Amino acid sequence: MPKLFIKTFGCQMNVYDSARMRDALSVHGFKETEEPDKADVILVNTCHIREKASEKLFSELGRLAQLKKKNALVVVAGCVVQADGAEILRRSKLIDIAVGPQNYHQLPELIAKYNRKNGRVIQADFPAESKFDYLPDPQKSSAAAFLAVQEGCDHFCSYCVVPYTRGCEYSRPMKEIVAEAKALVKAGAKEIMLLGQNVNGWHGDEGKDLGDVIREVAKIRGLKRIRYTTSYPSEMTQNLIDAHKDTPKLMPYIHLPIQSGNDRVLKAMNRQYTVKEYEKIVAKFRKVRPDIAISSDFIVGFPGETEAEFEDTLRLVERVGYASSYSFKFSARPGTPASLMKNQIPEDVKTKRLMKLQALLLKQQKAFNEATVGKEFDVLLTEKGKVRGQLVGYSPYLQGTVVKAPVKMLGEIVRVKVTGASATALKGEIVK
Ligand code: 5AD
Ligand code: SF4
Repeated sequence: MPKLFIKTFGCQMNVYDSARMRDALSVHGFKETEEPDKADVILVNTCHIREKASEKLFSELGRLAQLKKKNALVVVAGCVVQADGAEILRRSKLIDIAVGPQNYHQLPELIAKYNRKNGRVIQADFPAESKFDYLPDPQKSSAAAFLAVQEGCDHFCSYCVVPYTRGCEYSRPMKEIVAEAKALVKAGAKEIMLLGQNVNGWHGDEGKDLGDVIREVAKIRGLKRIRYTTSYPSEMTQNLIDAHKDTPKLMPYIHLPIQSGNDRVLKAMNRQYTVKEYEKIVAKFRKVRPDIAISSDFIVGFPGETEAEFEDTLRLVERVGYASSYSFKFSARPGTPASLMKNQIPEDVKTKRLMKLQALLLKQQKAFNEATVGKEFDVLLTEKGKVRGQLVGYSPYLQGTVVKAPVKMLGEIVRVKVTGASATALKGEIVK
């Protein structure tokens, strides 16, 4: 049986894509291995969002060059291939096959037909057919699974490569989503995270929105929890917000990236909302679900961002109160309008701003975690802890929670009383 090693960089969509590539290859007899030196096919799934992410491909290839079996096939997939396919083949002689995010259903065939003598292969177009029509049902699932319901983005934020790497927005039909969700539950999923670059822009069935998808998926017996990410603020519908009130399986957590707390910067970023409008949406969520955990992405040091404009972001954070967040220094990505803007911010200024913002966000995260001490809630145990005899799971608010439990309880939902909290995790005891 040929062995397959997969290394995944980047977002949850990439984790999902890697699982689908594994499934597609497993029906052709491949077995996944954790050991790259034993693999016959090595697959690296790449991320292009920021320069640092993109460069990780080459350090990984350097590592693999030392480890891999002499004749192992090296496949590179993902957004770096879509953006820079020819260039990465030039930069690394190690790569045999490069496949873009919309072509990976062709991977079994590309591998089967591959012959080194005929030269290396790159497949990175946007085919007319949907890859989803060609992929097998999920063969395996972790307790917390991902399911892509929407892909691509039509927003063209001025800093972002996603519209170029993932293409324009595509929504999968409801029927297809429900069928895949059922297959995931059958394969062991207790929780499903519905994924999309612009997930709340889902429009797969006439007259329906993501709120309807959630209510439909919630009907699946055996599925206990639903989440979704990532949402675009101005595309939030009341129907989706209301799902947080009427669908108990939908977890009280919303990732709602604002990027900046200043209207001029938002406009330069080509974000289609104002700070005030964003705060109104937050208030709507809190009205239907007062305990909801809110998270966001932030970019500091966007071209032309003044100190005062950066301070506006800090003020916004203080007003909203985030449960968790991701923040980044602006990275000038080739081909994006923002990379050509004047007034690029020096690296040291970006670093200072990022540190200041992260200190505030971490303080809020700690406060949010500490406020749950003494409470009881359900935790889905998904991973082994660092210490033997411990498992890690996720609270409804997506807080990592460490409990004492035997390995056989992995994949179970248990009632936990929170006994301690830090900025990054909770500690708890299983009750009952
Ligand atoms: N520079 C820095 N951060 C970026 N993001 C996207 N593009 C860039 C960039 N060029 C961030 C945004 C987005 C998250 C996934 O990555 O905050 O929401
Ligand atoms: Fe990128 Fe903006 Fe689309 Fe998000 S909404 S994927 S940041 S272009």
